[in-house]
Amino acid sequence: MTSDLPLVIVTRQLPQAIIDKLSAVATLNIWEEDRAIPQDTLLAWVPGCHAIYSLLTDPIDSSVLDAAGANLKVVSQMAVGVDNIDVAACTARGIPVGHTPNALTDTTADLAVALMLAVGRRIAAAAQFVKVGKWDTWRPMELTGKDLYGSTVGIIGFGRIGKAVAQRVRGFDCHILYNHPRSDPDAAQYAAAYVNLDTLLKSSDFISLHTPLTEETRHMIGAEELAMMKSDAIIVNTARGAIVDQAALVKALQEGKIGGAGLDVTDPEPISVDDPLLKLDNVIVVPHIGSASVTTRMRIAHMAADNLIAGLHGERLPNVYNPEVYSD
Ligand code: DGY
Repeated sequence: MTSDLPLVIVTRQLPQAIIDKLSAVATLNIWEEDRAIPQDTLLAWVPGCHAIYSLLTDPIDSSVLDAAGANLKVVSQMAVGVDNIDVAACTARGIPVGHTPNALTDTTADLAVALMLAVGRRIAAAAQFVKVGKWDTWRPMELTGKDLYGSTVGIIGFGRIGKAVAQRVRGFDCHILYNHPRSDPDAAQYAAAYVNLDTLLKSSDFISLHTPLTEETRHMIGAEELAMMKSDAIIVNTARGAIVDQAALVKALQEGKIGGAGLDVTDPEPISVDDPLLKLDNVIVVPHIGSASVTTRMRIAHMAADNLIAGLHGERLPNVYNPEVYSD
């Protein structure tokens, strides 16, 4: 028996509440395996579908859009970043792309500050020290690290998450610098000073990345930029791995040119367990958990479902990445 409901491709198993919400309005084809849907499977599944509920692990490029065909009304991503989606190709076909801004700002900013503290205060190394039985006495200079309080924090990308990081580190009495394509009228409220990138790199004790990944920001932190940083600077990336030239980062860390790194994102993801970054004591890598609180992940999963349902009904998405698809 064929259903009259529209067909939605869901690229990963989602919490039941989201499945329930979507299946009330659509027939779902869900990729149930606990890994990203293979591209050839996605291509085989999309013909005739009306919507795609995507994750950041799914390349939604023109081949997928072409295979989907004229029925496709919306691509809804369960993330704020959409660098895995060819947005221009969606726009050219009049397809709105949904995403989840605002919903994960604070959770991600919390993690950025947690990584600053964790690398600066050597939390992972210290916990390991205890676990392997090395804690035999208290020594004056053992496991000493670097203070966040009172330090200079450089924020690259002063959007929602960058500002939320500024708000947090103000509480640590930090001196805050930021770099962004233009200076921001709100910066005074965070006591943040606009500087050019070179000044930020040379002056900061902690550098936190918050730009989207675009062709302009890909590898914006490379060998030259790392060479400008202080020899004990700590770089934190909760944005996208490819903003940093990872080979250059490994070299800078191995040669002691910078002090450490806290990475929630890598290039590629997942990082290989043999990657030299994982051999370094002054590096903490976590698996893209910036938005990973239960509350926030549920919130963004619902937002993506709401975007998708609006698109299916031909309504404006509550959170659309490419509003230019609408003529009003
Ligand atoms: C995003 O939303 O872009 C994050 O990287 C994952 O939540």
